[in-house]
Amino acid sequence: MILARAETPAGEIVLRRRDEVVELVVNGVFAMDSAEVSSELALADAAGSHPGRVLVGGLGLGYTAVRLLDAGAELVRVVELAEPLLGWAREGLTAELARVASDPRTELVAGDIAEQVDGTWDAILLDVDNGPGFLIHDHNQRVYAGDFLRTCVQALAPGGCLVVWCESASPDLASTLERIAGTVELISVPVTRQGRSFDYALYVAG
Ligand SMILES: C[S@@+](CC[C@H](N)C(=O)[O-])C[C@H]1O[C@@H](n2cnc3c(N)ncnc32)[C@H](O)[C@@H]1O
Repeated sequence: MILARAETPAGEIVLRRRDEVVELVVNGVFAMDSAEVSSELALADAAGSHPGRVLVGGLGLGYTAVRLLDAGAELVRVVELAEPLLGWAREGLTAELARVASDPRTELVAGDIAEQVDGTWDAILLDVDNGPGFLIHDHNQRVYAGDFLRTCVQALAPGGCLVVWCESASPDLASTLERIAGTVELISVPVTRQGRSFDYALYVAG
């Protein structure tokens, strides 16, 4: 069942429900569903048990943002490329999107995270695409490039961290982050989907 569909300058975005599972399709590519969100939650957890002020790239179905709010974050600014998704969150089309949009600690910003990093953050969490090896939006290549990642690291408060979600390990991304931040840690999140097992990768830098 289609819950909502919209055209955006970056392609179509569709929110749909299959039985109890909500799915998000971005630019014709399956982006995520609500059946398996352990890596979205692990992304938030990588910000630490006291998340403070957090900048999130990519709203998706809102699981990362909800986890941060539940953990007591002071501020969660979510930058989302597909503006209609922010409207669907404000309309409360799913429970998680409603929770994100209605919390006074949330700021929802329409835009490209690659152009929206300003101020100082305790954590910056990037989950906008599959990772540098398999892009939904070609223009997101710059999100995984040294210039932008350096901008993120420079925007971190002392002790802060930058976390990048990838659908598989990326040694190139790891070495870029290590060069910029000095250290990088890989958190593997094992996932089973439709009988297939694989590891999503979270890179923590800073
Ligand atoms: C996989 S989803 C994020 C999932 C999210 N972590 C969650 O817990 O539901 C990726 C989101 O990033 C958005 N996006 C893609 N490119 C972006 C960009 N350059 N800046 C901001 N958002 C972007 C997509 O529209 C989509 O909503």
